[in-house]
Amino acid sequence: MSDISELMARRERLLGPNVSTFYRDPVHIVRGEGVWLWDADGRKYLDCYNNVPHVGHCHLKVVEAIARQAAILNTHTRYLHEGILDYIEALTAKFDDSLTSAIMVCSGSEANDVALRMAQAATGNTGFISTDMTYHGNTALVTQLSTRKPPIGGYLPNLRHVPAPDSVRPLGGKPGADFARAYTVEVEKAVASLDAAGHGVACLIICPFFANEGFPDLPKGFLDGAIAAVRRAGGVIIADEVQPGFGRIGSHWWGHERMGFVPEIVTLGKPMGNGHPVAAVVAGHDTLSAFRNAFGYFNTFGGNPVSCAAAMAVLQVIDDECLIENARDVGAYALERMRDLQTKHSVIGDVRGAGLFFGAEMVLDEAMTPATAYTERVVEGMKARGILLNRLGFEYATLKIRPPMVFSRENADLLIDTLDEVLTSIPVSA
Ligand SMILES: Cc1ncc(COP(=O)(O)O)c(C=O)c1O
Repeated sequence: MSDISELMARRERLLGPNVSTFYRDPVHIVRGEGVWLWDADGRKYLDCYNNVPHVGHCHLKVVEAIARQAAILNTHTRYLHEGILDYIEALTAKFDDSLTSAIMVCSGSEANDVALRMAQAATGNTGFISTDMTYHGNTALVTQLSTRKPPIGGYLPNLRHVPAPDSVRPLGGKPGADFARAYTVEVEKAVASLDAAGHGVACLIICPFFANEGFPDLPKGFLDGAIAAVRRAGGVIIADEVQPGFGRIGSHWWGHERMGFVPEIVTLGKPMGNGHPVAAVVAGHDTLSAFRNAFGYFNTFGGNPVSCAAAMAVLQVIDDECLIENARDVGAYALERMRDLQTKHSVIGDVRGAGLFFGAEMVLDEAMTPATAYTERVVEGMKARGILLNRLGFEYATLKIRPPMVFSRENADLLIDTLDEVLTSIPVSA
């Protein structure tokens, strides 16, 4: 038997306190394959949460690509190597024609750190705008964007937070045009405030799916007004595609395409190497050159031959196995089944999502009071029945389902049948 308390004590001793884990009794995972995970006691779990093993845990083609390249050469980008060039050609072919170049890094945090400074270098302005419920990573600069744990010493004077869009409780009181207009007004206020303080606006940085904000249901074009306000003031848009990117949303390769805009800068991470630590900033050549000229920039591990081999294999598997089409099909099927479940369980206040990123907001009443503690019990109940998912969004009352892209209709049935059982077995209470 795996001794969880012994492992937790060892972690605290060796890694320090406050290292985050999922679940009241964390899971001790030792093996993964496709959509399945096994713990140290041999128990099998359906993984409905992990977006990093994008094309499936331990996909053979990715494993082989990593092993093959690691056996030939791995070094940094101060030597010439075709791997990084081949990969950036293949990657940028998936974007709008204006996005032609990239900087390779090792994490989403680094990508966003580079992107923020790139926006400053390209615009000559210094101000940043982000939402007030976001997370874009953990460097000293990027943590400034997040309100979850305010930085020691306070926020930078050149940063403005705008309210995160919430389709259940829309700004302006109503969904539709009023909501989009109210959001635009918030961004216009932030732009005016940065201008008045002499910073000017360098960028609005957003996840185009607002993944960490609870993935609100937003129509295409929702962001148009906000984007126009930023561009009028000389700023650019950074689309953080760390979560929606690489086809997860089913309809497109990238979340910004689904929202109907082309950003000046895109950041990528988590799914890019199927678990291998590789990330990137994609931009037009002039925008990227402004950053290179201002900062130089060298990243020892970023874009090394093994990382590029892993990332290239991921791109190929997405295409070869038609995983975007799969996300579209299985995602639509799962959403429909979730909506059926909603008619049976009134605690499900809202069902939303796109492709293989969907979930349900749990509420206590018609006033949509978030059922935070109940949602936690549901997540634990699912885990007890061998299904791994999690929660996020407003008051952490939204179930977050974001499985590897090889998730099938059969997997969706198991997920939703189990959710039905769990919702039936746990009495709704605050
Ligand atoms: C939207 C978003 N951007 C960036 C990051 C940071 O990525 P990393 O943990 O690879 O630094 C995260 C991590 O959760 C994220 O959710």
